[in-house]
Amino acid sequence: MTIFRTKSVEQSIQDSEAPEHRLRRNLSALDLTVFGVGVIVGTGIFVLTGQVARDTAGPAVALSFVVAAVVCGLAALCYAEFASTVPVAGSAYTFSYATIGEFPAWIVGWDLMLELALGAAVVAVGWSGYFSELLTSLGIHLPASIAGDHAVFNVPAVVVVLALTAVLAAGIKLSARFNLVVVAIKITVILLVIVAGLFFIKTGNYTPFIPPAQPTEAVHGLKAPLIQTLFGITPVAYGVFGVFAGAAVVFFAFIGFDVVATAAEETRRPQRDLPIGIIASLTICTILYVAVSLVVVGMQPYNRLSRSAPLAGAFRVVGQDWLAGIISVGALAGLTTVVMILMLGQSRVFFAMSRDNLLPRRLAAVHPRFGTPYIITIVIGAVTALLAGLIPLSALAELVNIGTLFAFILVSIGVVILRRTRPDLPRSFRTPLVPLVPILSVLACVYLMLNLPVETWLRFLVWMAIGVAVYFLYGVRHSRVEEEPRVAVR
Ligand code: ALA
Repeated sequence: MTIFRTKSVEQSIQDSEAPEHRLRRNLSALDLTVFGVGVIVGTGIFVLTGQVARDTAGPAVALSFVVAAVVCGLAALCYAEFASTVPVAGSAYTFSYATIGEFPAWIVGWDLMLELALGAAVVAVGWSGYFSELLTSLGIHLPASIAGDHAVFNVPAVVVVLALTAVLAAGIKLSARFNLVVVAIKITVILLVIVAGLFFIKTGNYTPFIPPAQPTEAVHGLKAPLIQTLFGITPVAYGVFGVFAGAAVVFFAFIGFDVVATAAEETRRPQRDLPIGIIASLTICTILYVAVSLVVVGMQPYNRLSRSAPLAGAFRVVGQDWLAGIISVGALAGLTTVVMILMLGQSRVFFAMSRDNLLPRRLAAVHPRFGTPYIITIVIGAVTALLAGLIPLSALAELVNIGTLFAFILVSIGVVILRRTRPDLPRSFRTPLVPLVPILSVLACVYLMLNLPVETWLRFLVWMAIGVAVYFLYGVRHSRVEEEPRVAVR
């Protein structure tokens, strides 16, 4: 059937080599790892640690991070195989096109907007929050109408998105350098939290490590997790279930390792370097997250951690205001690169989609001097800035999680399909224990998705329905695979 036509891996690779769409190959395995860490470490560790420890998991929030890391690790093994086999921009979109077919690929591309553009806007709003807090501590107060949760138009969020758009349009190497400096700052700050925090740990704060489960204020209707509505489970906080429920939330902290795969065409030796970049950045972040969360819940009783700035807050409580200030600056720097790289990933996915004519092809033009897909970058920057400026996005953060988990599922399924349909392709990285690992990956992602609220599912379904409509009104008729059926490319 037409909508399930696939685009061969060879054709995808050949497209990426066409001179008018060629990106500059500048990145090494180290650049990619730094990119990964740059996009992964952000709102998750700087904000969610406190919320989850307080409300859901207690000191065992560290275990929630471990559970989320395992889910991401399974998916990362699948992404690594794909990225080494199909080193073409577009990540989950390109992988799905090569395996399941055009329509599912479009659906994934559309879905990735939730992870990337919406994710960037959500983190930009968080950035604006930290920025206003920092200004307030310096005695400067921004009017509530232009910053904070109730802003009519969130000016700092818009400004940071537009500034980062300019950096991205100017060239991938510049972005990588900028990222390197910022990542160095935020890793230093995280290590500072771990090392300095050790001196303020009170072992009593670790008992009980997993607080006994207790009934929580029941959440009903649209706010309830889907799993609870489906199975009529009574909601509890803490206990072993709390650890798992916490994992569905702190999952956000790991989002981004998959973005490494979107930089495939800018990587010098993608077959070797993409798997290294994906797995190394995820491993580094997991170690940092578990260490930070253990230190923070050791410094302060979990039920007194700050909801908006738990890391800085824990140091303020022990009288180290100057350290708290440094941590806030680090968080601000950290969130900057998250926004930047999420937008970078979004531009590369759109780049791949418009190169296939599923979006207008003119968008895929590459700048003659900078070697970047500048038109797309600017369009995405403008849309993300508008989103960040106008919509109070905190409620939409869970949409980012569901969108990302959905893409993980399709990639995991795709690995198994491609092993069957194209066993001949060279794979410099092979997912271990196929099909067991991909199946576990799918089950783990589905479990976390079920823990998300009903309203998130409804928003997700509406967004996907719009995507289906756009495909049938535009993509299905313009698709390049349709125009050039079966080009011999071997
Ligand atoms: N993982 C990224 C963050 O925590 C999205 O902000």
